[in-house]
Amino acid sequence: MKISVVGTGYVGLVTGVCLAEIGHDVVCIDTDVQKIHKMRRGQSPIYEPGLDDLMTKNIQEGRLYFTNIHKEGFKDSEIIFIAVGTPQLPDGSANLNFIENVAQDISTYVANDAIVVTKSTVPVGTNYHIQKIIQRNIADDIKIRIASNPEFLREGSAVQDTFNGDRIVIGTDDVETADILEKMYAPLNIPVFKTDISSSEMIKYASNAFLATKISFINEISNICEKLGANVEDVANGMGYDKRIGRNFLNAGIGYGGSCFPKDTQALVQIAGGVEHDFKLLKSVIEVNNSQQKSLIEKIKHRVQNVKNIKIAALGLAFKPNTDDMREAASIPILSSLAEEGALITAYDPIAIENAMDILPSNIQYSNSIKKTLEGADIALIVTEWDEVKSIDLNVFKNLMNTPIVFDGRNCFDLDLIEESDIEYYSMGRKTINPYKYTHIQQPTF
Ligand code: UDX
Repeated sequence: MKISVVGTGYVGLVTGVCLAEIGHDVVCIDTDVQKIHKMRRGQSPIYEPGLDDLMTKNIQEGRLYFTNIHKEGFKDSEIIFIAVGTPQLPDGSANLNFIENVAQDISTYVANDAIVVTKSTVPVGTNYHIQKIIQRNIADDIKIRIASNPEFLREGSAVQDTFNGDRIVIGTDDVETADILEKMYAPLNIPVFKTDISSSEMIKYASNAFLATKISFINEISNICEKLGANVEDVANGMGYDKRIGRNFLNAGIGYGGSCFPKDTQALVQIAGGVEHDFKLLKSVIEVNNSQQKSLIEKIKHRVQNVKNIKIAALGLAFKPNTDDMREAASIPILSSLAEEGALITAYDPIAIENAMDILPSNIQYSNSIKKTLEGADIALIVTEWDEVKSIDLNVFKNLMNTPIVFDGRNCFDLDLIEESDIEYYSMGRKTINPYKYTHIQQPTF
């Protein structure tokens, strides 16, 4: 099939490349000319494991093209994907400007019948809004049908997720459109769930809100465990055996971040408010997440009283491992607050430093290795659970740091191993090991 994808962010580019890989002719359209040049050379503008190789292969095999000219990109396309961003507005609702611009471009430049499929996460009702904009200018003899097809891929494993997804959701008003899209996806061999457009739009928000709820739930349990001397990991493992609950998304830590959960939970609260429903549960999920990031700052401050001039080695900056994405990363509020209070921070991340520099306070230093970051530090602060961080030999903390005091926001280390070391160790929802062992670092006054 001939397919166009508008928007080459995480969702659009991965979708385009993977559809080419399963045999379709794909044109990816983006207004950013620099990006287009880069992608034509087979270089992905985002870090996503496996994407560059797949791009190069499909460009060479003649199934994948890039253009910044809409008219050219839409030519003869049977299916047009909208995969542009829907960033958050100050009131929490989704900004639909980019979506509306694409609908306008489709209205102006599409010259043949096509199915317009929205992949971007959009509030319920947006597909019909898109349809109205398209109908404004389009020639009477051109038939445009619309479909909702939300995306569930995760950053860092987006290619893998596209080929091994749990389901493909297709929302349409007519059976024929749904059947065409099902056929397009058939080589992926993933279960297809067909529904109406509004339900499909809601499935995306409800799924992300539910996953965010699991995370905030376990984080609340973790806070209680900490006070009662229980171990949240064991609690999550014990809960996870129950198939109705499952073990996934029950990792306690410093909360969720990224481009989806924070934005989509806020947007769903707004969507509910729009129909006079007060989504109390989801509001609490958001509140718990915000306070979870602060809890690690409080732990550090409680330990050292005053962070001024304390040397902190921050390990991991991205919102999660295997991505360079800093959007809504826990590192932003945590390190900003500590830096503002005079902590001397050196930070390390395998790939997100360049993005972090634009966002984090200018008095934060950066280092290109874990060892250099830890050298002479008073405190190690683990923000992102990169494999590289999880596999640090515990002796490295002891041998390189001024005082081996570790605050682990992601529960990277086995408590039994830590217990055998001399590390003073604070994690999330688990007992503290060797509290106040290194007393020459300030202690709290009770
Ligand atoms: C998410 C959804 O998983 C995906 O289906 C949707 O399309 C986009 O949003 P993504 O944002 O890439 O994907 O990351 P994900 O792996 O889901 O993690 C989101 C956040 O939750 C991260 O900050 C992660 O650290 C946090 N998280 C995840 C936890 O704190 N605990 C967990 O148990 C799982």
